[in-house]
Amino acid sequence: MPNAYISGTGMFVPPRVVTNDQLAKEFGMDTTHEWIVQRTGIEERHYADEGVGTSDIAVPAAEQAIERAGIEKTDLDMIIFATLSPDHCFPGSGVYLQKKLGLCDGAAAKFVPALDVRNQCSGFLYGLSTATAMVKSGACKHVLVVGAEVHSHALDLSTRGRTVGSLFGDAAGAVVVSATDEDRGIRSWHLGADGRYADVLAQRIWDIKRFPFIPLDEHGVGQVQPEMMWAQMEGKLVFRNAIERMMTVLMEACVANGITGQDIDLFVFHQANLRINQYLQQHLGIPDEKVVHNIQKYGNTTAATIPTLLAEAEQSGKLKRGMKVAMIAFGSGFTWGCVIADW
Ligand code: UT7
Repeated sequence: MPNAYISGTGMFVPPRVVTNDQLAKEFGMDTTHEWIVQRTGIEERHYADEGVGTSDIAVPAAEQAIERAGIEKTDLDMIIFATLSPDHCFPGSGVYLQKKLGLCDGAAAKFVPALDVRNQCSGFLYGLSTATAMVKSGACKHVLVVGAEVHSHALDLSTRGRTVGSLFGDAAGAVVVSATDEDRGIRSWHLGADGRYADVLAQRIWDIKRFPFIPLDEHGVGQVQPEMMWAQMEGKLVFRNAIERMMTVLMEACVANGITGQDIDLFVFHQANLRINQYLQQHLGIPDEKVVHNIQKYGNTTAATIPTLLAEAEQSGKLKRGMKVAMIAFGSGFTWGCVIADW
């Protein structure tokens, strides 16, 4: 059975920066830079321009990962696309990305499977685990895993939505998972979910139990109430569960690998709130140099947090061959996961 390792990383953030002050001044949100920084660590985030979708920003991230993996696009055997802000309700963003990468063009067209993952902040780790299983089984040699979000177009940026709206940003991250006979790569993955909390962090823009699924006005035009249109979150409950689940799943992964936290060289935590990660770091006694963050400049980019961190850490030289890496995520569902890799 081959090993599966991350052969290339890539990332892209849309150029438009929106600071905390801009949320107040330009969008009219009753908030302050101090509140957001103190509660979350976020200083600014990037928003995609109107007309730019999630599969669009995934293209440069994917191309960078493919190039850094040293392969051609046509070497890919599968695409896995994790997002909570897909271009459309259906089809998934994976097929749009496939087309935009040029994989459907010309004589070299390769109609590889494209799978969308709907696990929000844990989506990238669910996708990475699936890719690893596909590679280890021998079914695929190279799998592209993308975590990308254009969440800003679906955020209530008024005061009504500030608890959620101030947190999120847009970004795309990608990795290529490849087969190798070398003794390296993804050692184990540990995924979990607790559907009792499905409604605690959710965007229920429609309700398929209803007929029709979105209420219509007298002209047959769909009407979506604000509490359905925008994501709703019980922040404190999410915060507490994030700490508990991320801590537990990391311990589970350490036990499974016969290691302790001290054997891990780099901790790549999902970026939901700097305070969550600082709490984990403090309670697990993890030194600053073993942790990477990007929430300060990008906000919470949901499925993109971990692959963008990997790309930044690898490209800056902080993440090097031979290091033991722990990736840990938690999010809506609730869902969570931890992946341990020898880089
Ligand atoms: O990635 C998915 C997982 N998501 C998370 O892990 C998020 C976890 N939760 C959190 O990070 C925190 O709960 C938040 C940052 C979302 C909120 O922080 P909090 O300390 O739990 O604040 P809160 O929700 O209890 O709100 C306290 C006050 C409220 O005002 P009142 O009711 O006390 O008058 C909020 O309306 O802060 C208000 N508030 C804001 N004020 C200024 C909420 N958002 C803002 C804001 N600016 N952006």
